[in-house]
Amino acid sequence: MESFSHVFQLSFNELRAGTPFSMKGKWNEQFFKNEHPIVLELGCGKGEYTLGLARVFPDKNFIGIDIKGARMWTGATEALDKKMGNVAFLRTKIEMLTHFFAPDEVAEIWITFPDPQMKKLTKRMTATNFMALYQHFVKPNGLIHLKTDSPFMFTYTREMIRENKYSLLAITDNLYESALVNDLLSIKTYYEKQWLARGLSIKYLCFELAPRTIFIEPDKDIEPDAYRSFNRNRRASLSL
Ligand SMILES: C[S@@+](CC[C@H](N)C(=O)[O-])C[C@H]1O[C@@H](n2cnc3c(N)ncnc32)[C@H](O)[C@@H]1O
Repeated sequence: MESFSHVFQLSFNELRAGTPFSMKGKWNEQFFKNEHPIVLELGCGKGEYTLGLARVFPDKNFIGIDIKGARMWTGATEALDKKMGNVAFLRTKIEMLTHFFAPDEVAEIWITFPDPQMKKLTKRMTATNFMALYQHFVKPNGLIHLKTDSPFMFTYTREMIRENKYSLLAITDNLYESALVNDLLSIKTYYEKQWLARGLSIKYLCFELAPRTIFIEPDKDIEPDAYRSFNRNRRASLSL
């Protein structure tokens, strides 16, 4: 992937040395060469959503972000083959994103089939510590989209939105049976296909990330997902 001009990553040594990322605040000026809104897919895996959205919206710029390079390679290769000028990939931990994006640089975020992290609140991508992180680089009232198989993740995020009085723009606990479904929301990721094959319903919600100075964590007990083990190694025979 080092030979791909649309894939970015800092080496461990560069990160440890605090080497600044030269395109922070300049993705549009230096890479995309336009002023279109920037949309991120967090935990993009193979990048199906990044590519799918980029095809539908040529007037937006898309950046798929994941820590795992092998998965990202699939989407990065396809973007290259199809000469998609509005797609880039960034290999990093989401927790590091303020190193790569300046205030107000991002218009929108998609979070697609994240691990619900039922035991580790601070690793859950819709926990309030992540809202505090995202608002460093997302424009005020930028959109956050979540697509998930997990009733736990869905319920937790809905409660987090309610507690923090974010504006909820769309919500369904069964996307493909709902009136919300359209071409955009029907883009299917690798993980989504696996969950659908197991007969699980897909949940979707979208809300506005209004700036906050105080964040409130929901204190409601949420039923864990019956089909997931807390212990990754003993997860039911799903091979992903
Ligand atoms: C369950 S997979 C979903 C992948 C893809 N969105 C899909 O639906 O097929 C979760 C992805 O998030 C990535 N991930 C999890 N935590 C991350 C973090 N803190 N920083 C960057 N990537 C992360 C993993 O590497 C993995 O590819």
